[in-house]
Amino acid sequence: MCGIIGYSGPLEARKILLDGLSQLEYRGYDSAGIAFFDTGSEVHLIKRTGKVAMLREACASMKVSSHCGIGHTRWATHGGVSDANAHPHRAGRVTLIHNGIIENYHSLTKEFNLDERLVSQTDSEVAAWVLDHFYSGDPKAAIKSLVERVEGSYGFCIMFDDRPGEIYGVRSVSPLVAAYTRSGALIASDLTALIPYTRKYFVVPENHIVKLTGYKISLYDLEGAVVSPEIMEVNWNMDSAMKNGFPHFMLKEIHEQPEALKNTIVPRIAKGLPDFADDKIPDHLFAQCSKIHMIACGTAMHAGMVAKALMEPVLRIPVIVSIASEFRYGEPLIDEETLVIIISQSGETIDTLAALRLAKSYGSKTLAIVNVKGSTIARESDFVLYTHAGPEIAVASTKAYSVQLAALYMIICRMALVRGKFTREQAASFIMELLDAIPAMESMISRKEEEKNLVTHLIQQHDTFFMGRGLDYAFSLEGALKLKEISYIHAEAYAAGELKHGTIALIAPEVPVIAIATQEPVFSKMISNVREVKARGAFVILLTKEHAQVDEALADVHIRIPDMDDRFTVFPIAVILQLIAYYASIGKNLDVDQPRNLAKSVTVE
Ligand code: G6P
Repeated sequence: MCGIIGYSGPLEARKILLDGLSQLEYRGYDSAGIAFFDTGSEVHLIKRTGKVAMLREACASMKVSSHCGIGHTRWATHGGVSDANAHPHRAGRVTLIHNGIIENYHSLTKEFNLDERLVSQTDSEVAAWVLDHFYSGDPKAAIKSLVERVEGSYGFCIMFDDRPGEIYGVRSVSPLVAAYTRSGALIASDLTALIPYTRKYFVVPENHIVKLTGYKISLYDLEGAVVSPEIMEVNWNMDSAMKNGFPHFMLKEIHEQPEALKNTIVPRIAKGLPDFADDKIPDHLFAQCSKIHMIACGTAMHAGMVAKALMEPVLRIPVIVSIASEFRYGEPLIDEETLVIIISQSGETIDTLAALRLAKSYGSKTLAIVNVKGSTIARESDFVLYTHAGPEIAVASTKAYSVQLAALYMIICRMALVRGKFTREQAASFIMELLDAIPAMESMISRKEEEKNLVTHLIQQHDTFFMGRGLDYAFSLEGALKLKEISYIHAEAYAAGELKHGTIALIAPEVPVIAIATQEPVFSKMISNVREVKARGAFVILLTKEHAQVDEALADVHIRIPDMDDRFTVFPIAVILQLIAYYASIGKNLDVDQPRNLAKSVTVE
């Protein structure tokens, strides 16, 4: 949460900062600000509540030129949304931006007598004043003292009034990446802000100080010793961070799913079988575990729910899915024989990271499924399986979900093979079916008008219910989340058989029920449940396979996916559910890519 960018170099800094903030806006968008040195070495500060566009407008008339500055887009934690609480914060000779939470801000305020000085309600301004207190001309020494005093999570970028052209960064938990490019030195909270300039970057290690000047970047440990950064390369390109003619990132990302799936699956097939040799994931990881524990948040957790429904019947070992924020404060029943699978698009979600660390402390082996290369979760896990979705910009996750599923399906297949639950032929045919899910997704994307038409009814309602059995229930969890987060329509997902234990009381005439019925063994049971809600007047949107036998009077809208193996229907179904949410949001004239109160990467608890 909160986007951070810093630049020092020959180009106009204001433009680079504003462009960077637009790229990072998905991290938070309640206010934004920049600070920069003008060519006379004076610091200018400008911040505004609202989106980056407001800040850009406010900056338009500024004539001063600059080659060094920092910028921030905020997702409020401490203190409401106001110009004063927006970053950067000025404190004496210090100008600072912050992503994270300073937990001991209250005691620091007392200790350093800051009550009279603070002009905002933020923990970040407290950190700025503490830094100013320690600053006497040596930035690294002052930052070291700050780090010794603050508790919590932080990514700071800092300018000192008497050090024009220099930016300093330091972090704990919250992410910071940096790069020296032909255009100058850059630092940011995430890669998307760097890819217009470079594909080579490094992750600022925790408790290290990075210094940017117009001609180089240096990295130091807290004692001031020079450290060589570990340079990484990402294959994302600029196109992947642009809308490319689509009205919204979300729609573009829905369209990118077939390609993202291919990129994630195909390089990991050898002789028709799943192969993780290039990922350096050994078979004994899969052979030796006695149970699996998957941990994630949000959409990534829903991908885990789908995998669980598929894994247990195939592998015949216990598979548990935990919400990371619950797991991390629990006393989990895991041990050295547990394979812990961590799922995270960003690789930075703070609860998921804490859950990973807890799992490691129990001696469990950890395997992370992550999209962002070099992210903290990727680096701290024993093994990583990278998904290849490219950058996901829309706050509502779409392609990241599909590729997480693809990675999990490949793991299931390899595990079944290694544990003797699949023959080579069965594993090869599983992979063929997985590949066949890609054209099935393509066909649903090409038929998107079906969803566009059905939302007219949906957007007039306050509630929507999703229901399914088995795998279909796991899919419906994600469908409900998607609808809630971008259309603000209350939505709940139910195991269809459970509906009558209370929730059916809410089914009144015209209430939409999205019924997913793609699983053959429970198909007739599902249809009975559909009859029950129809009998109470529900507006039924039924999703089945192409040749499912259904009394058409049961459904107000019936969408059919191509006939396919039950285990893979999630891929076309996911597209339908994403499109329903997308068009509902459009129908209500809402901000699809940046829904209220949300942020893409949740780096605070
Ligand atoms: C936020 C995002 C979701 C995402 C979740 C977990 O809530 O809006 O789209 O599923 O965080 O994020 P992660 O990066 O760990 O997958």
